[in-house]
Amino acid sequence: MLQRKDMLGLIDASREEIYEILDTAANMKKLVRQGIKKLPHLEGCTATILFYENSTRTRTSFELAAKYMGATTVNIAAGSSSVAKGETLVDTGKTLDAQKNDFIIIRHPMGGAPYLLAKTVKASVLNAGDGMNEHPTQALLDMLTMKEKFGKIEGLKVAILGDIKHSRVAKSDLFGLKKLGADVRMYAPETLIPKGIDKLGAKLCKSREEAVDGADVVMGLRIQLERQQAGNFPSLAEYADFYGVDDKILSYANPEAIVMHPGPVNRGVELTSSMIDHEHSHIEDQVLSGVAVRMALLFLLQQYRKSVK
Ligand code: CP
Repeated sequence: MLQRKDMLGLIDASREEIYEILDTAANMKKLVRQGIKKLPHLEGCTATILFYENSTRTRTSFELAAKYMGATTVNIAAGSSSVAKGETLVDTGKTLDAQKNDFIIIRHPMGGAPYLLAKTVKASVLNAGDGMNEHPTQALLDMLTMKEKFGKIEGLKVAILGDIKHSRVAKSDLFGLKKLGADVRMYAPETLIPKGIDKLGAKLCKSREEAVDGADVVMGLRIQLERQQAGNFPSLAEYADFYGVDDKILSYANPEAIVMHPGPVNRGVELTSSMIDHEHSHIEDQVLSGVAVRMALLFLLQQYRKSVK
């Protein structure tokens, strides 16, 4: 059983913990696919979703996951809460604790914010993305999608292309995939590669072709448009030409390779439209995996909460 109060990152998650979450999520995904969206496991629990940044997929899938498991959910958008009046994160957490929340799901622009919150509240804290640090549930849903397609993670060749430097998804994927024995290759403009990422186990490639050669998974990462203004690359069109994924680049991969992207996608930049809508695209399956992984995590954390009461 998962022996932790919070899910803050994959940097300190064990291989066994990751497999337990993925196995539980695979069962949850089967139930949701069958249209079973009312389970009793979290009846009587409350989950507050506290987002200081925009989101479509992560926010809605956490809310659906909590609701499908029977929990009551509350949404706080930072702009319309007392945060806008200057309340600190710790004081916001204390308020949510006083209301007897069981889970706080937080997205915050500052790396480390979920760790600070987790230290000060009794509720279980789930990191829904913190700055450039981690996005653990995205990596778990990515791994669930890969495991369902290939039956395993060990030995998979995963090519990740795009803005590695500013991507919390790339870091969580790297931590998780390396723990499960995948071969992770990365390719990006030099300005978008963080120093030391190779020391964490990524193979840095010199070309798209090298990264994608024989790959089982080809993953594009979102280019944040402000990075172009910052001079990290000359133009979106040139980015697409030199770093994007199209039919020609995909032809270097394993013929059974899947195309993935955490979303939101800039159509025609990281992936061509034909890649997004390709028969090998698993982008929509990633979204369904997201609901299942978040159901599994809420369930496993609640099991732990009950065991230590
Ligand atoms: N993948 C992801 O985090 O998407 P959102 O920003 O829409 O939540």
